[in-house]
Amino acid sequence: MSNPLRKGLVEERTAAACAVVIFGASGDLTRRKLMPALYNMAISRSLPSGFAVVGVARREKSHDAFRAEMKEGVSKFSRRKPIDSTLWEDFERGISYVAGTFEAKETYERLREHLEQLDKERGTLQNRLFYLAVPPSEFRAIVTGLQGANLVQPASREREGGPFSRIVIEKPFGHDLESARELNDTIGSTFDESQAFRIDHYLGKETVQNLLVFRFANSLFEPMWNREHVDHVQITVAEEIGVEGRGKFYEQTGVTKDIVENHLMQLLCLTAMEPPISLAADAVRDEKVKVLKSLRRMERGLVQQNVIRGQYARGIVRGDEVPAYREEPDVAKDSRVETYVAMRMFVDNWRWGGVPFYVRAGKRLAKRVTEIAIQFKTVPHKLFSAPDGGITPNVLTMRIQPDEGIALRFITKEPGQHTVLRDVAMDFRYGTAFGSNTPEAYERLLLDAMRGDATLFTRRDEVEEQWSYMDAVFDGWRAEANAPPPLYGSGSWGPEQADDLLARDGRRWRKP
Ligand code: BG6
Repeated sequence: MSNPLRKGLVEERTAAACAVVIFGASGDLTRRKLMPALYNMAISRSLPSGFAVVGVARREKSHDAFRAEMKEGVSKFSRRKPIDSTLWEDFERGISYVAGTFEAKETYERLREHLEQLDKERGTLQNRLFYLAVPPSEFRAIVTGLQGANLVQPASREREGGPFSRIVIEKPFGHDLESARELNDTIGSTFDESQAFRIDHYLGKETVQNLLVFRFANSLFEPMWNREHVDHVQITVAEEIGVEGRGKFYEQTGVTKDIVENHLMQLLCLTAMEPPISLAADAVRDEKVKVLKSLRRMERGLVQQNVIRGQYARGIVRGDEVPAYREEPDVAKDSRVETYVAMRMFVDNWRWGGVPFYVRAGKRLAKRVTEIAIQFKTVPHKLFSAPDGGITPNVLTMRIQPDEGIALRFITKEPGQHTVLRDVAMDFRYGTAFGSNTPEAYERLLLDAMRGDATLFTRRDEVEEQWSYMDAVFDGWRAEANAPPPLYGSGSWGPEQADDLLARDGRRWRKP
């Protein structure tokens, strides 16, 4: 039977003709995320008729060999399985490969000739989307190479109706404020800010986009979305997985740089921001930047009181024994890198003055869950007495993943002769209401980048504000003489010290 809620959900947005050029085409991201996303976009007809995708990487390889690799990746990681062979044959005709090092001028000369050929053969109309699926250390060489080979059209040409050149940049975007500024300067040397699309894949998630819709398309919640009614907010990004063979990367980042500085802060911005004047990219991003600027910076002495680190020890996850972080490949035996962090943050503005935002993120926790919970204040006068001595406060939970949905907890009377109070939930589930075939974050983000819509991408000042806030935390840690983070058992909810962070305020973490 057809689901009436699915009416009007047909994907109608199509990008302009273009060639997507992926630097770092032999990496994991290309086969796991980018190519499956493009293939699914082809199925949902959101790719333009003039379309090509060009992989660029060091190793010599034929177009056919690259296509075969991509087919293998798509078969494994596409959300639609099995792969449709007729559709794939059509799609793969648009896939090609250019070999070369990112430092060599010839790579870009060859790329230019190849792209000109594609303009003729596949009607890509000189439009280019350059995707940097490479570590930040490679950015400069690539941007310089593109510029040197005249592969970048100025933004003014696009405004006059000419072809576009855009650059999509993956995280991590630097490792502190200074390095982020340097990367921004590198990109800014060749691309205008309107041509730069910094990816935070959380913004491509349906449930994250729904935060704006939920807040600003309903009149019910917004009047209560402030310090008058909200006691505190909890944001959790918990993972069951460990570092999954990325020990080397994790030793450089830790969870704070990997998750908090970007994904979690974006969730906080969307929860706390004021209504934008429109949905134009800059209107939305202006409001997010205001939140980031309002975050109370932590003075050195305050970091210890407000930020708790942890590192996973051995433990049991889903019935399996798992090793400690320090036993993972490429991790130092005495590593002090944090795999868990909990923080108490304040948004010092009129709406949120005095409302704590408790946030936490970690690997090897009890459950994979990302959620935002708004806990409302308790009733001002207690008419009813409950057996546990109190009435639990109302909580609105937005479940970002998995089990996507929104739940509102409130108190009811249990049926019977006595007045017994019970905390119950009203629960909305995406899967039940809309079916589960939602586009992946990368599909949405690639399409938006091809369409030139930067709303779901982080702007230069946004990324710099994120780092400026975090830099104070890192500075505080350095001042603590880099004490090792406390250990927590894999499969638990993090170190005890994180519970104390809330207990001091008379609160406790939710158990999602
Ligand atoms: C990435 C991090 O940005 O996000 C990973 O580098 C993390 O460490 C991943 O596992 C989580 O993404 P998702 O979409 O699975 O929540």
